[in-house]
Amino acid sequence: MRAVLVCGAGFMGHGIAQVMAAAGKRVLLYEPERQRAEAGRDRIVSNLERSVAKGRLTAAERATQLSRISIAEDLVGAAREAEVVVEAIVEDEAAKQALFREIDAAAPADAIVASNTSSISITRLAAATRPERRARFCGMHFFSPVPVMPLVELIRGAETADATEAAVRELAAELGKEVIVSADRPGFIVNRILMPFLAEAMRAYEEGLGTAEDIDTGARVGLNHPMGPLALADFIGLDVCLNIMNVLYEGIGGDHFAPPRVLEQLVSAGHLGQKSGRGFHDYPAAKP
Ligand code: CAA
Repeated sequence: MRAVLVCGAGFMGHGIAQVMAAAGKRVLLYEPERQRAEAGRDRIVSNLERSVAKGRLTAAERATQLSRISIAEDLVGAAREAEVVVEAIVEDEAAKQALFREIDAAAPADAIVASNTSSISITRLAAATRPERRARFCGMHFFSPVPVMPLVELIRGAETADATEAAVRELAAELGKEVIVSADRPGFIVNRILMPFLAEAMRAYEEGLGTAEDIDTGARVGLNHPMGPLALADFIGLDVCLNIMNVLYEGIGGDHFAPPRVLEQLVSAGHLGQKSGRGFHDYPAAKP
């Protein structure tokens, strides 16, 4: 059985590996530093343990799912075995392109190569691969927490083939995810809608319209959102939100996409939300 290679075991990558294993795929999890891959695997272990504790998974199912995930020792060897590659590394175009060049050189000709980028052009990322790969290259954008959020945004680059869209749709269905297809434009569909909402909540906070708690409660209780916008921004990561807003502002324009000053200040101060222990709210239990 050929494998799904997941590159990046962080916030998104570990969740992608988990849902692939739950769907019966053999998963290779790659990070340049083994310790980071192990940390990603540990997060999967604790997610599955929570599911067992809640009675949604048996201990045997947990063991089977975990046995499907191996840490890849080297990228080239792992890419050679891949049927599908999903990249979920840092949102840095040059780093992603360098990774895709290596993967493209090693992966079988028929392997599909997908990026979980939330903001970088799929056509530009595909350009790092050989012309014959580009038909089998697309965006496969998951939402966090990946095991919980049932959406995949499929982004077609300029050269993505219909057969690739069909194969990724089939894979997403196996994962229990619903697919939406987006053109390759800044922010794709979901972040194009979400980021102006988060930015407006930040501007409201900045001008003292209400406390962070009251702004969030307004959306939670008044709009039935699972999280308020400031808490959601903290959850996504304020650096990630700033990066996406910059991509939207530079790529489309319009004041509603402009990153609010309070967001820039928090990021400059290293307050990145849940992951750093502080953002619009405080997270005393976080381990920065
Ligand atoms: N990993 C795996 N599972 C998790 C999880 C995690 N990190 N966090 C929560 N869960 C699971 C819990 O185990 C629980 O499962 P069961 O119901 O089966 O028991 C379920 O999610 C609900 O969790 P909780 O009861 O602990 O908490 P909650 O009801 O407050 O839900 C939440 C937590 C699912 C995160 C919910 O608040 C939510 O849906 N928030 C909005 C999330 C969202 O909008 N995500 C998209 C962000 S945008 C993005 O990702 C893309 C981008 O490019 C920026």
